[in-house]
Amino acid sequence: MERPSSAPVVISIGGSVIWTGEDDARYLDGLATLLRRTGKRRPIGVTTGGGSMARQYIELGRKLGLTEVELDEIGIDVTRLHARLLAGRIGPPTPAHPPTTVAAAVQEIQRGPLVVMGGTEPGHTTDGVAALLAVRLRATRIINATSVNGIYDRDPRTHPAAKRLERLSWERFREIVHAGASSAAGQQFPFDHLAVNVLARAKIPLAIVQGRDLANLERAIEGRSFDGSRVE
Ligand code: UTP
Repeated sequence: MERPSSAPVVISIGGSVIWTGEDDARYLDGLATLLRRTGKRRPIGVTTGGGSMARQYIELGRKLGLTEVELDEIGIDVTRLHARLLAGRIGPPTPAHPPTTVAAAVQEIQRGPLVVMGGTEPGHTTDGVAALLAVRLRATRIINATSVNGIYDRDPRTHPAAKRLERLSWERFREIVHAGASSAAGQQFPFDHLAVNVLARAKIPLAIVQGRDLANLERAIEGRSFDGSRVE
């Protein structure tokens, strides 16, 4: 791959987007092709989440009495399996073994413009890893590719009248994230609270999109108009 010229972009892909049980191979294949194409224009750092696979392992481990730290570590292992699947499909020079720290990912991006990684250490999620990576790379934007098409004023799964918020300030977004936050392993919330604080401080704009719509994801990566929510 030749050296790209535009500013880096970071993408956090939710595990719930990677592993749905439906057309997952076709989706990962399309995502890998998209990343190779857009990676020619700009360095891209990708994090992959663990989704329901991670939660199933964490639930089983919790029944066995493992500590929260051990459960987080199991979650991290699953996120790294997902990183391996995507990195393997992208192929060289993307490293097949996901970097295990943000610092190592930054170094890898000097060598090849496209890096895929999972989690790093206990206590946050891959959204948090993506935020730290975005700051270290001085990314121009970060994309959260998730199973919903944006941020809603209430949980759309339980409130059919929930309204999508297309533009939000960091303050408003922080309120929404903190309202649903908890720190237990495998817990689901719209975005990681570490990530919100890190991105707000660095003033890196965040786009939230439905990750399975690859054409829309590409528009968000390239900074064109997209369907979803923007936090800035
Ligand atoms: P995820 O990043 O997948 O979290 O990590 P999530 O909130 O379930 O996100 P989606 O659903 O994939 O979008 C899964 C679990 O792995 C542990 C946490 O327990 C997290 O809930 N983890 C992950 C860490 O402890 N540290 C990390 O850096 C990443």
